Amino acid sequence: MSTDLIFLVIFVFGASTAAAQSPTEEGHKFPWTLGQKDFENNAEICFKTFGDRVKSWITINEPLVIAKFGYTIGVAPPGRCSDRTTCPAGNAATEPYIAGHNLLLAHATVASFYEYQYQAAQGGHIEMSHAGLYYKPYSDTLFDRVAAKRAMDFELGWFMEPLVRGKYPLSMRRLVKDRLSIFTEKEKKLVKGSFDFIGINYYTSRFVKNIPVNPKPAPVSFLADEHANSTVVKDRVPVGPKAGGSWFIYIYPKGLYKILKFMQKHYDRNITITENGVTEKKNDSIPIHQALYDQHRIEFIQKHLQQISKAINNGVNVKGYFYWSLFDDFEWSEGYGVRYGLYHIDYKNNLKRIPKKSAKWYHDFVTGDRKQAC
Ligand SMILES: *[C@@H]1O[C@H](CO)[C@@H](O)[C@H](O)[C@H]1NC(C)=O
Ligand SMILES: *[C@@H]1O[C@H](CO)[C@@H](O)[C@H](O)[C@H]1NC(C)=O
Ligand SMILES: *[C@@H]1O[C@H](CO)[C@@H](O)[C@H](O)[C@H]1NC(C)=O
Repeated sequence: MSTDLIFLVIFVFGASTAAAQSPTEEGHKFPWTLGQKDFENNAEICFKTFGDRVKSWITINEPLVIAKFGYTIGVAPPGRCSDRTTCPAGNAATEPYIAGHNLLLAHATVASFYEYQYQAAQGGHIEMSHAGLYYKPYSDTLFDRVAAKRAMDFELGWFMEPLVRGKYPLSMRRLVKDRLSIFTEKEKKLVKGSFDFIGINYYTSRFVKNIPVNPKPAPVSFLADEHANSTVVKDRVPVGPKAGGSWFIYIYPKGLYKILKFMQKHYDRNITITENGVTEKKNDSIPIHQALYDQHRIEFIQKHLQQISKAINNGVNVKGYFYWSLFDDFEWSEGYGVRYGLYHIDYKNNLKRIPKKSAKWYHDFVTGDRKQAC
């Protein structure tokens, strides 16, 4: 496959992983509707203990997932929502917004004490990473185009607009009204500009159809406020081929370019792709030599890097790329059922790590002759 991946600026490549992608993950430990003191204390311990070696900090990963899946749909910790058949407690009309507000304040508080107390001495930088699902209009009608922008506002602008401008997106303020907090002058000063880089985690895209404002769907909730119906399929064709074993990844590299251009158009800050990855279904009957032959992953990475290269050539400030994940891991929503790794984990053999074909390819690409690796 021929590519024209030319990165002229200093660009960081890597692979991300986590000790546990599960309810025990840091971001999910704290009751985000109540405040953030424990989170701030934990962050301070991390800066003190690891700051001499860690030069890139991500304060909170995917606040959207915490607020939407934890407080609206209730499928992630702390499992709160309005529907009493699935959640013992919660209020999807108010709590996601309270959690979102506190997540932003927690990030900004931690970023500010890093900036004042540690940054000069330690020389690191601070990021907040966001779930970057790209929403494509289902049709070319004005309604669907506005709905797609609204979905971007509700899921990415919810955090980006305060980080860049100190207030929530206009569409959210209009639709959520007094259920959405207003930043006080002090909070606005704290949150606005409280980062060095923005992390984007990109996996997939969706189509969005408008849901008319009247009659307003009941019950009132974050999901109803969006007035956007997102679908994988348009005219029976999915947005892209489905990744092996994953319930949500439909491979659509162009969406990465689109979301990067969206970020540039609306926010124009330095971006790191902090996650981008693809799965295969875990199946222990597959012979090992075959399991290690992940040509699909190499092509996935190449195609996404091409889109990043195109975005850079079109003026987007992308400064780094991290493949998710270095190893096959435990995923918060997919468990051990899928494999994301550049390295195969042999779960039956003392968790032995074996490089897949993609690990070798990525190594050569990052360290060696990039043209040749392509
Ligand atoms: C969303 O679209 C699907 C099919 O495209 C439809 O069945 C469903 O009722 C829609 N949901 C809403 C809330 O409009
Ligand atoms: C982006 O990063 C470059 C260094 O790579 C820096 O000079 C520039 O000021 C940054 N831009 C913003 C908006 O932070
Ligand atoms: C697992 O792999 C084997 C060998 O390739 C295949 O026969 C089987 O259908 C696969 N099982 C599933 C559940 O995909």
